[in-house]
Amino acid sequence: MKEKIDQILNEINELTCNSISEIEEARVRLLGKKGEITALFDEFRSVAPEQKREFGQKLNQLKNAAAAKIEEMKQAATAIADKVAAGQVDLSRPGDDYPLGSRHPVSIVRQEVVEIFRKFGYDVAEGPEVEDDYHVFEALNFPPDHPAREMQDTFFVTDKSQSNPILLRTHTSSVQVRCMETMKLPIRVICPGRVFRNEAISARAHCIFHQVEGLYIDENVTFADMKQAILLFAREMFGPETQIRMRPSYFPFTEPSAEVDVSCNICHGKGCNVCKGTGWLEILGCGMVDPNVLEASGIDSKKYSGFAFGMGLERIAMLKWQVKDLRLYFENDLRFLSEFQAEI
Ligand code: PHE
Repeated sequence: MKEKIDQILNEINELTCNSISEIEEARVRLLGKKGEITALFDEFRSVAPEQKREFGQKLNQLKNAAAAKIEEMKQAATAIADKVAAGQVDLSRPGDDYPLGSRHPVSIVRQEVVEIFRKFGYDVAEGPEVEDDYHVFEALNFPPDHPAREMQDTFFVTDKSQSNPILLRTHTSSVQVRCMETMKLPIRVICPGRVFRNEAISARAHCIFHQVEGLYIDENVTFADMKQAILLFAREMFGPETQIRMRPSYFPFTEPSAEVDVSCNICHGKGCNVCKGTGWLEILGCGMVDPNVLEASGIDSKKYSGFAFGMGLERIAMLKWQVKDLRLYFENDLRFLSEFQAEI
């Protein structure tokens, strides 16, 4: 009986009603002839005489609490009803706005890049962030002990010296390997995702960042196809006047490889502090997929060729909004994030 009293007392404390009829329903349920509290008074008759005093007091308290709560709700409801009747409350007035959140700048850029390549007919693929050495390095033509592995300082999950250790992926090229292993040719895919490198955190470097990498494999794919795809992307992303230039570069998984710059869309090539006076901004790395990489995933490199490219999303966001401190993208400071409300 004691528990039942406490339980009803809790219910009364939390009780809310939206109309006079709901209040009346609550009154009948608790205090009516067949109400829960009335039923407890019936039960009270069979309580042992030595407990009658304690339970009697509790029951009376419960009854008074219920009556007081119902009276209080009735008065509040009548007060509103009176105001409405007197025309002092306009119930048709729209409610207050909920504060609107904003999308993260990196998400905004990722969606833009993904939408552009989707229009070009690319699929989107995702893969694990915790990967094995094979998919991040070995299948991409990084030989063991080759200095190229040190280009991408790696966080190891299992012991580095064991065979095929587990690690945090340093690029989403690992997803491209998984695509080559499983997808039917031709392959046209982009892989957005989070990547990890063991770097000291500063305004210009972070140990976590985001990439979108792309891969296109078919018969007779040439360097000219790659150049055209990247030019079209750059013009969709940075405006129709955008020019690109390619500089020779090195990646273990592509040959030849290039670094791509776009013409600075702030000074239009005249030179400003964003492009450091050069008129050009570096946006991505690319190249023709090395035949060794195709063969490692079981693709006939005599019949097929392809290109791959990869870009950092924080880098593109920096160029788009001139936010030059990388740490801001990871700190979740609402003062920074709410600046992107207009971008939704
Ligand atoms: N995976 C490279 C990186 O993370 C980028 C890249 C992708 C370069 C594809 C060439 C081709 O730096």
